[in-house]
Amino acid sequence: MNILVTGGCGFIGSHVVRLLISKGIGVVNLDKLTYAGNPENVRDVGRHPKYRFIKGDICDAGVVRRAARGVDGILNLAAETHVDRSILDPGAFIRTDMIGTYVLLEEARLRRLKFFVQVSTDEVYGSVSSGKATEGSPLRPTNPYAASKLGADRLAHSYYATYGMRIIITRGSNTYGPFQFPEKLIPLTIIRALLGEPIPVYGDGRNVRDWLRAEDHAEAIWLAARRGRTGEAYNISGGSERENIWIVRKILSAAGAPEKLISYVKDREGHDRRYAMSGAKIRRELGWQPRRPDIADGIRQTVDWYRENRRWWEPVVRRNAAFRNYFDRQYGHRWGGGGRRRADGKQK
Ligand code: NAD
Ligand code: TYD
Repeated sequence: MNILVTGGCGFIGSHVVRLLISKGIGVVNLDKLTYAGNPENVRDVGRHPKYRFIKGDICDAGVVRRAARGVDGILNLAAETHVDRSILDPGAFIRTDMIGTYVLLEEARLRRLKFFVQVSTDEVYGSVSSGKATEGSPLRPTNPYAASKLGADRLAHSYYATYGMRIIITRGSNTYGPFQFPEKLIPLTIIRALLGEPIPVYGDGRNVRDWLRAEDHAEAIWLAARRGRTGEAYNISGGSERENIWIVRKILSAAGAPEKLISYVKDREGHDRRYAMSGAKIRRELGWQPRRPDIADGIRQTVDWYRENRRWWEPVVRRNAAFRNYFDRQYGHRWGGGGRRRADGKQK
C-alpha cells in the first residue's frame, strides 16, 4: 500500500510518517516546508526505500496530481495550525486549510482513491462550558484557525455525501510530544523554562485543554483510516483535561526551573475557555483509547526530549530572525500592555 501524507514534515505528520514506514507502508510526503515544516522531523526515515518526499503546496493542483500518482489514499495533515497566528493573519489559514483541502479532495475524487482522512480538530466545537463534546454536538468555532478547519471538515464530509467517497474525519485534541514547533503552549514553555526566560500565560491561566500524545494521535488517525466508518467523524481525546497553569507548573518542575518565571500576560482575543471531548465513539467502534494517557509522565518525557535535543530547537529560537519577529509581534504588546506580572500577581 502507498499513502500520500500531507504535512509529513510537521509535528503530528512526522509521527504519522514514522508509524506508516514502521508498518512497511509506502509513504509519499507532500510538504511545503513552511516555518513549521522541518525535514529533520523525519530524518530517521529519510533514506528508507518506501519513503519519498515532495516539496510542494497542497493548493497547487499540478503538484498534488504528481504526488498522488500510484497512491491508495490520502491522510491530510498539512495545515496552518497556530491559533495566535490565525488571529494575526487569517489569509494563510483560509488558503491552506480550506482551499488546499479542496484541491486534495478533488484529486482523490478524480483518481477514485480508496480513502481520504481529513485530520480535523476539537476546536471545531468551540468552547465547551460543561460536559464533553460528542461528534453530534454543535460546531461553533470561534477563531480563524478553528473556522477554517471546520470548513475543511465539512467540505470533506460533503465529498462523502455527494460523491459517496470513503471519507473519514478525525478530531484530535491538543497534542504534545517530540518535534513540536516551539510556538504552542507546551513546547514554548519547555524551551523558555530551559532557557530561564519568562513564560507567558494568557489571562488567568485557567483555560482548559484536553492533552493527547502525538504518538497516540498518529495511531488513532491510522486506525480510523483503516477501520473507521465511511462518512463518520471520530473524536480523538487524550482524556487529560488540565488548566494551562497546571501544565506550566508541571513543566517548570520537570525542567528544574523556578515558578517565578510564570508571567501572566494579556489574554488571547476570543480565547476559548475549555475544550473537552468524549472519546466514547472511537473506543466503542474501533476499540481505541490512548496508550500514553499519563499527562504528568508525558510532560516529563517531553521535557527530557527537548533537553536532549537542543540542536533541533536552538537554531529556530536563537538564530531564526523570522521566529524572533513573530515572537515580538505576538508577545510584545502582551508583556507591555498587561504588565509582566509574576505568579503571585505582583507587577514585575
Ligand atoms: P504543524 O504546524 O506542526 O505542521 C504543519 C505541516 O504542514 C508543516 O510541515 C508545514 O510545512 C505543512 N504545510 C503547511 N501549509 C502547507 C501547504 N500549503 N502545503 C503543503 N504543506 C503545508 O501542524 P501539526 O500540529 O502537526 O498539525 C497537523 C494536523 O493536525 C493539522 O491539520 C492540524 O489542524 C491538526 N491538529 C493538530 C493538533 C495539535 O494540537 N497540534 C490538534 C488537533 C488537530
Ligand atoms: P495553544 O498551544 O496555542 O493551543 P490551542 O490554542 O490550539 O489550544 O494554546 C493552549 C492553551 O495555552 C490556550 O488556552 C492558550 C494558552 N497559551 C498561553 O497561555 N500562553 C502562550 O504563550 C500560548 C502559545 C498559549
